[in-house]
Amino acid sequence: MPWKLTPLLLFLAWMAYKCSARARTDLFNVCMDAKHHKIKPGPEDKLHDQCIPWKKNACCSAKVSQELHRDTSSLYNFNWDHCGKMEPACKRHFIQDNCLYECSPNLGPWIQEVNQSWRKERVLNVPLCKEDCQSWWEDCRTSYTCKTNWHKGWNWTSGSNKCPTGTTCGTFEFYFPTPAALCEGLWSHSYKLSNYSRGSGRCIQMWFDPAQGNPNEEVARFYALAMSAGAMPQGIRPLLLCLALILPLWLHD
Ligand SMILES: *[C@@H]1O[C@H](CO)[C@@H](O)[C@H](O)[C@H]1NC(C)=O
Ligand SMILES: *[C@@H]1O[C@H](CO)[C@@H](O)[C@H](O)[C@H]1NC(C)=O
Ligand SMILES: *[C@@H]1O[C@H](CO)[C@@H](O)[C@H](O)[C@H]1NC(C)=O
Repeated sequence: MPWKLTPLLLFLAWMAYKCSARARTDLFNVCMDAKHHKIKPGPEDKLHDQCIPWKKNACCSAKVSQELHRDTSSLYNFNWDHCGKMEPACKRHFIQDNCLYECSPNLGPWIQEVNQSWRKERVLNVPLCKEDCQSWWEDCRTSYTCKTNWHKGWNWTSGSNKCPTGTTCGTFEFYFPTPAALCEGLWSHSYKLSNYSRGSGRCIQMWFDPAQGNPNEEVARFYALAMSAGAMPQGIRPLLLCLALILPLWLHD
């Protein structure tokens, strides 16, 4: 009797192993399905300038990392200087934000499906460390813009984004009165201002020293586990799929 069951048990063990490995990598080390991301993360020796911290494991190609350092890059034709020259001290935060978005393999817990022509997935409410958001806001206070949400509402008729009629250029401080208004509002809540600090292991860092490894790996692991244990449908989905695959086998037996 037991020997008859052995193949089935082995198969179930194998399934459980496969499923849990799948559930883990789905959230821990993954690239979103968007416009310029690689299919899978991996080493990239030639990453450019501010994106170099991700070179051990990245979702961006060297080409993308280089392109996103240019003004009005061919990636999105997005013009930072839509209200006159953006201060370099401010621009470096936008470049870093782009490096994180394009290169990070650690945003899995916050990936959501979307119905957009230019991407199938986005991130929502990534907990950005409070110091990263604060310094972004402080360095940009004196630059100019005309909108609080940079995802939509631009006039694209010229090929790159122009301020739509009816808006006027004002300081960042006017359009984004607080750090949260900037980090959360800018990209339709891609970020959420975290009250955790850099180095806490509980918030995503836009800036880090790669000599100490990528601190966001631990953060993704923490939230992935918290989410699959808790209520987030994002984390539960792979587990449910596994159950759906395994349960019929048990019932059949
Ligand atoms: C996605 O787009 C399709 C076609 O445009 C539409 O039928 C569908 O309702 C949309 N789904 C969501 C979740 O918005
Ligand atoms: C968009 O910009 C063009 C000039 O580039 C202008 O002629 C047009 O009126 C603008 N449209 C809107 C809706 O702002
Ligand atoms: C801030 O973080 C602490 C943990 O360090 C948490 O207990 C608290 O609820 C958070 N406060 C807010 C306002 O989110």
